[in-house]
Amino acid sequence: VTAGTLLYEGKAKRVFATDDASVVKVSYKDDATAFNGLKKGQIIGKGAINNQLTNLLFAYLGENGIKTHLLEQLSERETLVRKVDIVPIEVVVRNIAAGSFSKRLGVAEGEELPYPLVEFYYKNDELGDPLITDEHALILGLATRAELTELRNQAIKIDRLLQQRFLASGLILVDFKLEFGRTSEGEIILADEISPDTCRLWDSETRKKLDKDRFRQDLGGVEDAYQEVFARLTSLREGQ
Ligand code: C5P
Repeated sequence: VTAGTLLYEGKAKRVFATDDASVVKVSYKDDATAFNGLKKGQIIGKGAINNQLTNLLFAYLGENGIKTHLLEQLSERETLVRKVDIVPIEVVVRNIAAGSFSKRLGVAEGEELPYPLVEFYYKNDELGDPLITDEHALILGLATRAELTELRNQAIKIDRLLQQRFLASGLILVDFKLEFGRTSEGEIILADEISPDTCRLWDSETRKKLDKDRFRQDLGGVEDAYQEVFARLTSLREGQ
């Protein structure tokens, strides 16, 4: 594999080789999908926003003791990250009922959960990313018991840090999805992205949705919502 080779193309990003075997370049696209690829579209400017927001949040988490794959932002859309093997588990943390939790369990959207819920989903497009238990993850060989504990502990710490950071920008963190990777040394570090594609974010005063639900639910104002989140997180406000 030579530098510049496309290693992987996902729904929202492309990953390229670099001249360092332990480093890859991620390039964010404007393409948007929902419902496991059934709904497709574009959100103009999304790639640049999600790249920069992810890096801002990963840098913040890094300053607060969370190990991430972030190395260096190259441009609005491109970032160098440590090469990892992605753990095929999507780790979802929920603070407020919404989305599939509300639908599956009949809890009204907006109801606050008594404590943050961590869920594991098997990252598998053909199966539609099913919800799994620890035992499923162990039996499928997706992770070890120690790794599942590590994923859960990291997710809870990240939730606490992100809730604080978003609230300082007038945003409620309803729920979000994380992906982790294994380094060549077998360490588990935070990878992928944290953006309005992967978080539910509501305005803290009006509870207006400022995330991908605007695309999923055809609410309109999708681009404006992403720009609003970007503007709020990048503007230095008083008390921040
Ligand atoms: O759809 P659901 O309610 O399970 O999603 C929970 C959270 O995880 C939401 O913030 C959603 O944006 C995120 N998610 C994601 N990628 C998926 C599934 C969920 O980013 N494949």
